[in-house]
Amino acid sequence: MIIETERLILRPFLETDAEDVYEYLKEPSVNCFACMKLNSLDEAKKEMKKRLGETDYYFAITLKENGKVIGEIDAYPESGEPHTDENAIRDTFSPCWMLNEKYQGNGYAFEAAHAFFDYLFRKKGARRIYAYTEDYNFSSQHLCEKLGMRREGVFLEFVSFVKNPDGTPKYENTIQYAILQKEWK
Ligand SMILES: CC(C)(COP(=O)(O)OP(=O)(O)OC[C@H]1O[C@@H](n2cnc3c(N)ncnc32)[C@H](O)[C@@H]1OP(=O)(O)O)[C@@H](O)C(=O)NCCC(=O)NCCS
Repeated sequence: MIIETERLILRPFLETDAEDVYEYLKEPSVNCFACMKLNSLDEAKKEMKKRLGETDYYFAITLKENGKVIGEIDAYPESGEPHTDENAIRDTFSPCWMLNEKYQGNGYAFEAAHAFFDYLFRKKGARRIYAYTEDYNFSSQHLCEKLGMRREGVFLEFVSFVKNPDGTPKYENTIQYAILQKEWK
Protein backbone atom coordinates (compact mmCIF):
# COMPACT_ATOMS: atom_id res chain seq x y z
CA MET A 1 0.00 0.00 0.00
CA ILE A 2 1.22 3.48 -0.82
CA ILE A 3 -0.26 6.69 0.59
CA GLU A 4 0.57 9.92 -1.20
CA THR A 5 0.25 13.45 0.18
CA GLU A 6 1.36 16.81 -1.17
CA ARG A 7 4.99 16.46 -0.05
CA LEU A 8 5.28 12.85 1.15
CA ILE A 9 4.99 9.24 0.15
CA LEU A 10 4.14 6.72 2.87
CA ARG A 11 5.23 3.28 1.76
CA PRO A 12 6.38 -0.07 3.19
CA PHE A 13 10.03 -0.27 4.26
CA LEU A 14 12.73 -1.50 1.88
CA GLU A 15 16.09 -3.10 2.69
CA THR A 16 17.76 -0.01 1.27
CA ASP A 17 16.19 2.19 3.99
CA ALA A 18 18.65 0.98 6.66
CA GLU A 19 20.91 4.07 6.60
CA ASP A 20 18.05 6.57 6.84
CA VAL A 21 16.36 4.62 9.65
CA TYR A 22 19.64 4.22 11.56
CA GLU A 23 20.01 8.01 11.43
CA TYR A 24 16.96 8.49 13.70
CA LEU A 25 16.92 5.19 15.63
CA LYS A 26 20.54 5.19 16.80
CA GLU A 27 19.33 7.51 19.59
CA PRO A 28 15.53 7.29 19.92
CA SER A 29 14.45 10.73 21.11
CA VAL A 30 11.76 9.57 23.55
CA ASN A 31 11.75 6.88 26.24
CA CYS A 32 8.76 5.05 24.78
CA PHE A 33 10.91 4.11 21.76
CA ALA A 34 14.00 3.18 23.79
CA CYS A 35 13.48 -0.49 22.95
CA MET A 36 13.72 0.33 19.22
CA LYS A 37 17.29 1.66 19.52
CA LEU A 38 19.61 0.39 16.79
CA ASN A 39 23.24 -0.04 17.80
CA SER A 40 24.80 -0.29 14.34
CA LEU A 41 24.06 -0.07 10.64
CA ASP A 42 24.13 -3.87 10.56
CA GLU A 43 21.34 -3.98 13.13
CA ALA A 44 19.43 -1.48 11.01
CA LYS A 45 19.80 -3.76 7.97
CA LYS A 46 18.45 -6.73 9.93
CA GLU A 47 15.57 -4.60 11.20
CA MET A 48 14.68 -3.59 7.63
CA LYS A 49 14.52 -7.28 6.65
CA LYS A 50 12.03 -7.87 9.49
CA ARG A 51 9.85 -5.02 8.28
CA LEU A 52 9.71 -6.21 4.65
CA GLY A 53 6.44 -8.11 5.01
CA GLU A 54 4.68 -5.16 6.63
CA THR A 55 2.61 -3.76 3.81
CA ASP A 56 -0.61 -2.41 5.32
CA TYR A 57 0.01 -0.97 8.78
CA TYR A 58 3.67 0.05 9.02
CA PHE A 59 4.90 2.88 6.80
CA ALA A 60 8.14 4.68 6.07
CA ILE A 61 7.52 8.42 5.75
CA THR A 62 9.53 9.52 2.73
CA LEU A 63 10.09 12.88 1.07
CA LYS A 64 8.62 13.06 -2.40
CA GLU A 65 11.41 15.36 -3.59
CA ASN A 66 14.32 12.95 -2.95
CA GLY A 67 12.96 9.68 -1.53
CA LYS A 68 14.63 10.08 1.87
CA VAL A 69 13.05 8.20 4.77
CA ILE A 70 12.46 10.90 7.41
CA GLY A 71 10.41 8.87 9.88
CA GLU A 72 7.78 6.25 10.39
CA ILE A 73 4.18 5.69 11.38
CA ASP A 74 2.29 2.54 12.25
CA ALA A 75 -0.85 1.22 13.92
CA TYR A 76 -2.34 -2.25 13.98
CA PRO A 77 -5.96 -3.36 14.32
CA GLU A 78 -6.87 -4.32 17.85
CA SER A 79 -10.02 -5.04 19.77
CA GLY A 80 -11.18 -1.88 21.52
CA GLU A 81 -12.59 -3.61 24.55
CA PRO A 82 -10.50 -5.42 27.09
CA HIS A 83 -11.20 -9.08 27.92
CA THR A 84 -12.61 -10.04 24.52
CA ASP A 85 -11.86 -13.29 22.72
CA GLU A 86 -10.02 -13.70 19.42
CA ASN A 87 -13.26 -13.27 17.43
CA ALA A 88 -13.78 -9.71 18.65
CA ILE A 89 -13.96 -7.01 15.99
CA ARG A 90 -10.59 -5.36 15.56
CA ASP A 91 -11.63 -1.81 14.75
CA THR A 92 -9.39 0.14 17.10
CA PHE A 93 -5.91 1.48 16.30
CA SER A 94 -3.18 3.18 18.30
CA PRO A 95 -0.59 4.94 16.16
CA CYS A 96 3.11 5.39 16.85
CA TRP A 97 4.81 8.24 15.03
CA MET A 98 8.38 9.38 14.89
CA LEU A 99 10.34 11.80 12.72
CA ASN A 100 14.08 12.26 12.32
CA GLU A 101 14.78 15.36 14.45
CA LYS A 102 16.30 17.16 11.45
CA TYR A 103 12.93 17.10 9.70
CA GLN A 104 10.65 18.09 12.59
CA GLY A 105 8.96 21.48 12.58
CA ASN A 106 7.96 21.37 8.92
CA GLY A 107 4.45 19.99 9.24
CA TYR A 108 5.52 16.59 7.87
CA ALA A 109 4.27 14.64 10.90
CA PHE A 110 0.82 16.20 10.63
CA GLU A 111 0.72 15.62 6.88
CA ALA A 112 1.68 11.94 7.33
CA ALA A 113 -0.59 11.30 10.34
CA HIS A 114 -3.59 12.98 8.73
CA ALA A 115 -3.25 10.82 5.62
CA PHE A 116 -2.68 7.70 7.73
CA PHE A 117 -5.79 8.39 9.86
CA ASP A 118 -7.83 8.97 6.72
CA TYR A 119 -6.59 5.63 5.34
CA LEU A 120 -7.44 3.80 8.60
CA PHE A 121 -10.90 5.35 8.85
CA ARG A 122 -11.85 5.02 5.20
CA LYS A 123 -10.05 1.87 4.05
CA LYS A 124 -9.23 -0.21 7.12
CA GLY A 125 -12.45 -0.14 9.10
CA ALA A 126 -11.17 1.96 11.98
CA ARG A 127 -13.92 2.94 14.42
CA ARG A 128 -11.65 4.50 17.04
CA ILE A 129 -8.06 5.71 16.98
CA TYR A 130 -6.38 6.44 20.30
CA ALA A 131 -2.90 7.62 21.15
CA TYR A 132 -0.82 7.47 24.31
CA THR A 133 1.69 10.20 24.89
CA GLU A 134 3.79 11.05 27.93
CA ASP A 135 2.89 14.20 29.86
CA TYR A 136 6.18 15.91 28.91
CA ASN A 137 5.85 15.16 25.18
CA PHE A 138 4.28 18.42 24.11
CA SER A 139 5.00 18.03 20.37
CA SER A 140 3.13 14.72 20.28
CA GLN A 141 0.23 16.15 22.30
CA HIS A 142 0.10 19.12 19.94
CA LEU A 143 -0.01 16.76 16.97
CA CYS A 144 -2.91 14.79 18.54
CA GLU A 145 -4.82 18.02 19.06
CA LYS A 146 -4.20 19.23 15.50
CA LEU A 147 -5.58 15.91 14.29
CA GLY A 148 -8.80 16.62 16.18
CA MET A 149 -8.22 14.03 18.90
CA ARG A 150 -9.88 14.55 22.28
CA ARG A 151 -7.82 14.45 25.46
CA GLU A 152 -9.54 11.64 27.35
CA GLY A 153 -7.50 11.35 30.50
CA VAL A 154 -4.19 11.13 32.29
CA PHE A 155 -2.87 7.89 33.76
CA LEU A 156 -0.42 8.59 36.57
CA GLU A 157 2.72 6.42 36.71
CA PHE A 158 1.14 4.26 33.99
CA VAL A 159 4.13 2.75 32.28
CA SER A 160 7.90 2.35 32.54
CA PHE A 161 10.24 2.33 29.54
CA VAL A 162 13.56 2.99 31.26
CA LYS A 163 15.12 2.52 34.68
CA ASN A 164 16.13 5.05 37.33
CA PRO A 165 19.85 5.25 38.19
CA ASP A 166 19.18 2.89 41.14
CA GLY A 167 17.73 0.23 38.82
CA THR A 168 14.09 0.70 39.78
CA PRO A 169 11.50 1.28 37.02
CA LYS A 170 11.03 4.92 36.05
CA TYR A 171 7.26 5.34 35.79
CA GLU A 172 5.80 7.97 33.49
CA ASN A 173 2.46 9.79 33.37
CA THR A 174 0.58 9.05 30.17
CA ILE A 175 -2.11 11.10 28.45
CA GLN A 176 -4.67 9.35 26.28
CA TYR A 177 -6.11 11.04 23.20
CA ALA A 178 -8.74 9.58 20.86
CA ILE A 179 -10.95 10.25 17.87
CA LEU A 180 -13.89 8.28 16.53
CA GLN A 181 -14.64 7.56 12.90
CA LYS A 182 -17.83 9.65 13.15
CA GLU A 183 -15.77 12.60 14.41
CA TRP A 184 -13.32 12.43 11.48
CA LYS A 185 -14.01 14.89 8.68
C1 LIG B 1 5.79 14.07 17.62
C2 LIG B 1 6.49 14.47 16.30
C3 LIG B 1 6.27 13.37 15.26
C4 LIG B 1 5.90 15.79 15.82
O1 LIG B 1 6.64 16.27 14.72
P1 LIG B 1 6.55 17.80 14.26
O2 LIG B 1 7.41 17.99 13.09
O3 LIG B 1 6.82 18.64 15.46
O4 LIG B 1 4.98 17.97 13.95
P2 LIG B 1 4.17 18.73 12.82
O5 LIG B 1 4.15 17.99 11.56
O6 LIG B 1 2.85 18.98 13.45
O7 LIG B 1 4.91 20.10 12.55
C5 LIG B 1 5.15 21.04 13.59
C6 LIG B 1 5.28 22.46 13.09
O8 LIG B 1 5.82 22.57 11.80
C7 LIG B 1 5.48 23.90 11.32
N1 LIG B 1 5.53 23.98 9.87
C8 LIG B 1 6.59 24.49 9.19
N2 LIG B 1 6.35 24.43 7.86
C9 LIG B 1 5.12 23.89 7.69
C10 LIG B 1 4.34 23.57 6.55
N3 LIG B 1 4.79 23.80 5.31
N4 LIG B 1 3.13 23.03 6.71
C11 LIG B 1 2.65 22.80 7.94
N5 LIG B 1 3.35 23.08 9.08
C12 LIG B 1 4.59 23.61 8.96
C13 LIG B 1 4.11 24.16 11.86
O9 LIG B 1 4.05 25.51 12.24
C14 LIG B 1 3.95 23.18 13.00
O10 LIG B 1 3.77 23.84 14.23
P3 LIG B 1 2.32 24.39 14.70
O11 LIG B 1 1.38 23.23 14.65
O12 LIG B 1 2.56 24.87 16.08
O13 LIG B 1 1.91 25.46 13.74
C15 LIG B 1 8.01 14.67 16.54
O14 LIG B 1 8.20 15.63 17.53
C16 LIG B 1 8.75 13.40 16.91
O15 LIG B 1 9.11 12.60 16.07
N6 LIG B 1 9.02 13.23 18.23
C17 LIG B 1 9.77 12.07 18.71
C18 LIG B 1 8.94 10.81 18.66
C19 LIG B 1 7.69 10.92 19.51
O16 LIG B 1 7.64 11.64 20.48
N7 LIG B 1 6.66 10.15 19.12
C20 LIG B 1 5.43 10.08 19.85
C21 LIG B 1 5.55 9.22 21.04
S1 LIG B 1 4.09 9.31 22.03
